[in-house]
This record gives sequence, C-alpha cells and structure tokens, in this order.
Amino acid sequence: MADQFFGKTVEEYILQLKKFNLDLKFVMELKVQGRLLRWPQDIAGNLDNNVIRLYPGHIKLISEGKRIGDYRWAGYLDYHQQTVNHLLLDNLLTKFQMFEQARHSLSCGMGVLNSAIKAIEAKDHYTKGHSDRVSQLAMKISDMFDVDYSEYDIEIASKLHDIGKIGVSEIILCKPGLLTEQEITEIRKHPEIGANILKPLPIFEHLVPVIRHHHEKIDGTGYPDGLAGDDIPLLSRIIAVADTFDALTSNRPYRQAMSTEKALGVIAGVKGSQLDARIVDTFLSLREHLLTAAN
Ligand SMILES: [Fe+2]
Repeated sequence: MADQFFGKTVEEYILQLKKFNLDLKFVMELKVQGRLLRWPQDIAGNLDNNVIRLYPGHIKLISEGKRIGDYRWAGYLDYHQQTVNHLLLDNLLTKFQMFEQARHSLSCGMGVLNSAIKAIEAKDHYTKGHSDRVSQLAMKISDMFDVDYSEYDIEIASKLHDIGKIGVSEIILCKPGLLTEQEITEIRKHPEIGANILKPLPIFEHLVPVIRHHHEKIDGTGYPDGLAGDDIPLLSRIIAVADTFDALTSNRPYRQAMSTEKALGVIAGVKGSQLDARIVDTFLSLREHLLTAAN
C-alpha cells in the first residue's frame, strides 16, 4: 500500500515539476521510508558521480518529529524554481501525514472487522475460510480486468462481503434443511446489513456499494435493489463469481461440496443471466489453475 501511495504521489510530483519546466535544470533523489526514487532516471548515474557533492541540496523529510526520508538534488535552481520545489515538497509531506493517519485508522478499522469475520465464521462454521478463498479468487479475476480499485480495496471488499451475516440468526445460517420464505427474506438482508456496518467508517465508504450489491444478478432478479448489468458495481460482479464458485465447492448444511469440474459447469450455465458473461469467461480461463488447486 505504501508503495502504491508513494509511487502515485511521486509520479504526480514529477509531472508538476515538468509542468514548471524544472525537468532539465536538475537531478533529484527522493528517499521516503526506504523507497528510493531518482529522477530523471536516465542520468541517475550522475548522482553517484559526485554531482550531489558538487551542487549539494539536501532536505531531511520530517513528519511529526520523525525523520521519514531525505530529498536531495543537484543542479542549478533559480529563486522561482526553488520556491515551486519547496511547495511541492510540502505537498508531499502533507500527503505523507494524511497517509499515516489513514493507515492508522485503517489498521484499527481492519482489526475490528477481522474480529467480525471471525465471529461470523464461529457462528456459521460451514463458511470457515470462505472470506479468504473468495478474496484470493476475486484478486485473481481482477488481475485480468481493468478495475478501478486498488489491490487493497479488492482484498478488503471480498473479505468483508458477508460481514452482514453477523446480523442474521445462527439457526437460519446453519439450518440443514430447506429454508422457509421468511428465513430466505431474513438471510437476504445480509448485504444491506453489511453495507450499514461499513458506512460509518470513512475509509471504507467507497466499498459500501460493492458490499451492498454482491447478490445482484445480471438479469436484474437479484437483491437487495434488483440492479441489472453494468449498474452493478464491477467489483460486486467479480465477487459474485468468486463467491458462487466457493459456495458450490464447499460443504453446506443442506448439501455436500461439488467437484470443481461440476461447479465450473454450473457457473457456465448461469453466464449472462445470474453472473456477468465477461467475468465468467475470464473465470473459466482459470480452469487449469482451479483444477490443480483442488487436487
Ligand atoms: Fe453474501
């Protein structure tokens, strides 16, 4: 996550430098928390060959009294360029502080939510490990799509997709026989309950619709809102495929696990009606991997 964050921030930073025509005037080296970025990369060698010693410019990056990295440059900067350079650096530090705060809230939030996942798994032992397996599959499928979510978001959303089951009675979750209509209505509340659990946490706000819509169907017959096609968030559609596969290949109170081969057949059969056709095709292309993993 830190790498993604700094990679993006520094890319933006370099773009800004280019915008201010600073690109030909100097070389720089930025080291934040062990991550070293040199720019321009093609003359990075100059940094090792005394350029810094000849034209030293060095700023220690300090955040809340802690040294988080170093910024060094070599070359001539006029007054205007130096001002812009310092402003951009300030921006980088501010972003770093925001990142640190977000990371702290995230680890607190994730701690609470991980406990909630464990609580669901303890309540419904048939789903033990389900969240982790769905998360791994969803990440594998997402790799083959141009998704707008970070790897981290995909992992969190797919791990938490069933968090709303915490609000569903254990008797219904573990019932061995067929469910009554009332029990089905009860169990179908879990995507909404899950979305409501995540809503108060600002760091997960963007994942609320993903959780809410993971049981929608492409033909609009799913729940809770009967969304259809591309109106269903892409990540919800990806989780739906991974979730269906894992449910079919796991033992449930009312039936034994299906073989991988058979489950792939079932998934192919609901392509375009229940599940997104493009995602199903991608998923089916993982056939060999899934068969090997099952053995
Ligand atoms: Fe679910």
